[in-house]
Amino acid sequence: MIDFDRIPRERLMALLRSAPKAELHIHIEGSLEPELIFDLARRNGVALPYASVEALRAAYAFTDLQSFLDIYYAGASVLLKEDDFHAMAMAYFARAAADGVVHAELFFDPQTHTDRGVPMAAVVQGLARACADARTQHGIDASLILCFLRHLTEAAAFDTLEAALPFRQHFIGVGLDSSERGHPPEKFARVFAKARALGLHLVAHAGEEGPPAYIESALDVLKVERIDHGVRCVESPALVQRLAAQRMPLTVCPLSNVKLCVVPTMADHRLPELLSAGLCATVNSDDPAYFGGYLGDNFVATFTALPQLGAREAHTLMRNSFEASFSPPEAKAAWIAQLDQAFAAG
Ligand code: HPA
Ligand code: ZN
Repeated sequence: MIDFDRIPRERLMALLRSAPKAELHIHIEGSLEPELIFDLARRNGVALPYASVEALRAAYAFTDLQSFLDIYYAGASVLLKEDDFHAMAMAYFARAAADGVVHAELFFDPQTHTDRGVPMAAVVQGLARACADARTQHGIDASLILCFLRHLTEAAAFDTLEAALPFRQHFIGVGLDSSERGHPPEKFARVFAKARALGLHLVAHAGEEGPPAYIESALDVLKVERIDHGVRCVESPALVQRLAAQRMPLTVCPLSNVKLCVVPTMADHRLPELLSAGLCATVNSDDPAYFGGYLGDNFVATFTALPQLGAREAHTLMRNSFEASFSPPEAKAAWIAQLDQAFAAG
């Protein structure tokens, strides 16, 4: 038995960074730091509409999801070669390892690259090689989830899935991201059914900026196994009850929610309420290079602003991250035993 009440706040803050955890909601293109963007732009001869690293960073003042996506897609335009994708992911894995991440499921947006003429092979093989290197260099178990851009058509999503099938062994599932409002999950019903028939895992962003009804249609129409963000579920008590009863995981991204004005301040975040309601909520970084921090920073910022969250909640969030992962039961059990040990030693 872990005596959570005896863990001092200072020790808890250290555990938030050091304890083993899984990251389930990270757009790998969102881990591209301004320094690497400029470095790759120089090497690849790509012109950027920003004069310097500082000027680019200064543009990171977002008012909503779309204001972020415009800059995020501009940043990703420097990625051309397989090695660029590999370098980007390796930089992420080094940061993740320092935050105690032992398992990561990385989103990637192939359309952002293939629409610029980058071959699907360069994207997937660069990232897949980084996942293999993450294990040998950092002991991180990593896999890939291919995301469809929801502001584009379902036909384009079908083409993307088709183009990715020669690399089927390199990704474990499909997701849905980009501009949420006006692009409901139903738009992608058939391509998700196809992915499901192929044995791929299914996730979708829903209830970040979109209404609770989008969470419901992600569940009922797309048949997803996790909801990415999902924080607007709090507007529907019946939906909260359903998510808790089904233990449907939510991959919550606290710093992202503040930066994209989904919540006014971190102190207003409803994560404590989601946990009290018995939801399988997890903490994730979303686009850490753009939102002010990686996974450890997300935990520390959340627990600092919300003092009602203590050691028990930290342990629950980390255990949930393993439970909600697409890993085999034996791996989950081994990581949870490591997590228990870290807290027991506290
Ligand atoms: N929401 C939707 N699409 C995204 C995000 C996000 O937070 N980050 C990268 N693509
Ligand atoms: Zn996201």
